[in-house]
Amino acid sequence: MRKIDYIRISITDRCNLRCVYCMPEEGVELLKHQDMMSFEEIYNLIKALVPLGIKKIRLTGGEPLVRQNIEELIKMIRSIPEIEDITLTTNGILLEEMADGLKQAGLSRVNVSLDSLDENKFKKITRWGNLEKVLKGIDKAIEVGLNPVKINVVAIKGFNDDEFIKFIDFAYYKEVQVRFIELMPIGESDEEAILKHYPIDDIKTLIETKYKLEENTHIRTNGPAENYNIVGAVGSVGFIGALSHKFCSTCNRLRLTADGRFRPCLYIDKEYDVLSLIRKGASDEELREFVQKIILGKPEGHNMEDGWGNQRRKMSQIGG
Ligand code: GTP
Ligand code: 5AD
Ligand code: SF4
Repeated sequence: MRKIDYIRISITDRCNLRCVYCMPEEGVELLKHQDMMSFEEIYNLIKALVPLGIKKIRLTGGEPLVRQNIEELIKMIRSIPEIEDITLTTNGILLEEMADGLKQAGLSRVNVSLDSLDENKFKKITRWGNLEKVLKGIDKAIEVGLNPVKINVVAIKGFNDDEFIKFIDFAYYKEVQVRFIELMPIGESDEEAILKHYPIDDIKTLIETKYKLEENTHIRTNGPAENYNIVGAVGSVGFIGALSHKFCSTCNRLRLTADGRFRPCLYIDKEYDVLSLIRKGASDEELREFVQKIILGKPEGHNMEDGWGNQRRKMSQIGG
């Protein structure tokens, strides 16, 4: 049986941005509040699943920081001693004002999505995001110790490939790990989307025209990224080759949607409704049995080669 020690929990399907590869400008149909898992339900579920070996929780969205009182949820999860790592993936817009409170509540670290360091291009990809705010959020996160701060850069041919080196320049002086992610066929697309895919090996080759990289297996934490030190730099770099370096065989995670559905794989639409079970009063033992069956049936790997349009949910409704 696969070893699952990591749950990614989407705590809201709402987002304060509209990244073009993720959501249409008008947004997507939103969940009703009563259909979303409450903090109490999330906390009790995590507690019930701890005996299965769960050690790491990542909060995602939409944008997790738009969920009211997220600090309360973090405090609740922090009170479970077996949970070693509580992290979140954010677009960074609210990070500057919230970083301090998040750290105090017990958050371990953050990953920040940032696809361009150019103000106009950043606006173009997020539709209305403010780059300055995100950069200040990153600095604040480092300052309060939400380390290591990782920067997620979705690599898009013809859009940000002229900035790959600039991102490494950024990591040269700042204590961040820049991670290049291959664009996956999930979310919004046009017919040419597949042509915009940029393989990580090519990104690495490009970077090595200016920088020397050294593989760092030490910071490979069962995650999807292959990590490298940048010789002479404060920061480091990682590569997430979801398509060209399929890492499914080492996958250690389950996903939980904001409406309480377990998804064993990011790309595969099969879901298991745990929220109904919880609301029917299932015992902890029943919840564990339910999840053990999901883990047993977890697919060997994704079939992203099939391309776009095979998903009921958008990325913002899964949590990346
Ligand atoms: P760390 O704990 O910091 O390694 O985080 P992470 O990489 O697990 O989380 P993050 O939310 O930062 O994800 C980075 C990118 O990797 C996103 O584009 C995710 O969609 C992608 N990703 C994360 N987990 C998986 C996975 O199981 N399968 C695939 N295909 N992509 C994943
Ligand atoms: N392909 C790859 N990464 C994506 N993300 C969102 N949509 C895609 C996609 N189609 C990234 C976001 C965020 C993380 C959770 O997933 O940029 O950093
Ligand atoms: Fe929001 Fe993240 Fe989707 Fe961008 S990628 S619209 S920040 S959920």
